[in-house]
Amino acid sequence: MKFPKSMKALSMLVLSSALLATAGCGSSKPSSSGGEQYSKEKPLVIKFSHVTTADSPKGKAADKFKELMEQKTGGKVKVETYPSSQLYGDKDELENLQLGNVQIIAPSVTKLVGLNPQFQIVDMPFLFKNREAVIKFWDGELGNKLMNSLDSKNIKGIAMWENGFKHFTSNKPIAKPEDFKGQKFRTQAGKVLEAQFKALGAGAATIPFGETYTALQQKTVDGQENTFNNMDTQKYAEVQKYLLTSEHGRLDYVVLVNKQWYDKLPQDIKTAFDAAMKEATEFERKLAVELDKKSFENLKNSKKLEIINLTPEAREKFVKQMESVYNEFEKVVGKDLIDGVKKL
Ligand code: LMR
Repeated sequence: MKFPKSMKALSMLVLSSALLATAGCGSSKPSSSGGEQYSKEKPLVIKFSHVTTADSPKGKAADKFKELMEQKTGGKVKVETYPSSQLYGDKDELENLQLGNVQIIAPSVTKLVGLNPQFQIVDMPFLFKNREAVIKFWDGELGNKLMNSLDSKNIKGIAMWENGFKHFTSNKPIAKPEDFKGQKFRTQAGKVLEAQFKALGAGAATIPFGETYTALQQKTVDGQENTFNNMDTQKYAEVQKYLLTSEHGRLDYVVLVNKQWYDKLPQDIKTAFDAAMKEATEFERKLAVELDKKSFENLKNSKKLEIINLTPEAREKFVKQMESVYNEFEKVVGKDLIDGVKKL
């Protein structure tokens, strides 16, 4: 077919600008690794599954990561986020990460107890004195060592995302240690949390996060412990009567990826991944602090919960009552680790 001269010039112009655009922007070139080629037309799909709502700090940061990652790779990567245990819940997310059925999860630190019992450091009663100590721990040598302990399980710890301090709630009074006697509480996982309630004369039952509201509603358990934001976004005020602002433990997340999968990522995608994760982490930590305060206000304003502020005297009593947890778990969690946190 013969083109008029002007058409020929135009098509040359279009073609050369397309070539220029491709050469100038590395992100639009296909990325390849191990025979796989990723492009805008055939993107690498990354699944990010978690158990909290989309409007929790974890949920919003997962969506932020999606936005950043897709933007940084010019569409060569597509991130699918699955909140509220839609894809995997507490019981199966770790296993599916190891199997490669999901590429990113961000479980609460406690839920890694089966892989390394030292993760229960976050559950040692009243150990972390403030948020600064938590940040120093995870961004420092101690936290890094703990995360790296997962390497041999084909899991790579990428970042710590915050939620906040835990507090107790129940349908029955919980102002002082004696009140806990005979009550039953939902726990996330692990023997340390079980021992914590045992020290108070209470029972404990591990229940997946996605089933906790119903367990409280049906009175399978009397109470639970969680952050303000989790209580707020899960609407626990509807099924609990008392909230004690105890700050007795931490609930934060470790963002985890399948190690083999991550190690094999094409270099340009890996670079974009690391940068997107760094930005999403900064975003998440700032948001978690804001939402912790906002959620506490929401819980107070719900008028459904009686808020009991932990007095210094009551705090001292709780600390004393829970000393047995340290006697029992110092070896399991590690004296070095515990002493290290105390020094932060
Ligand atoms: C819980 O099970 O209470 C939390 O770990 C849920 C979460 O991911 O914040």
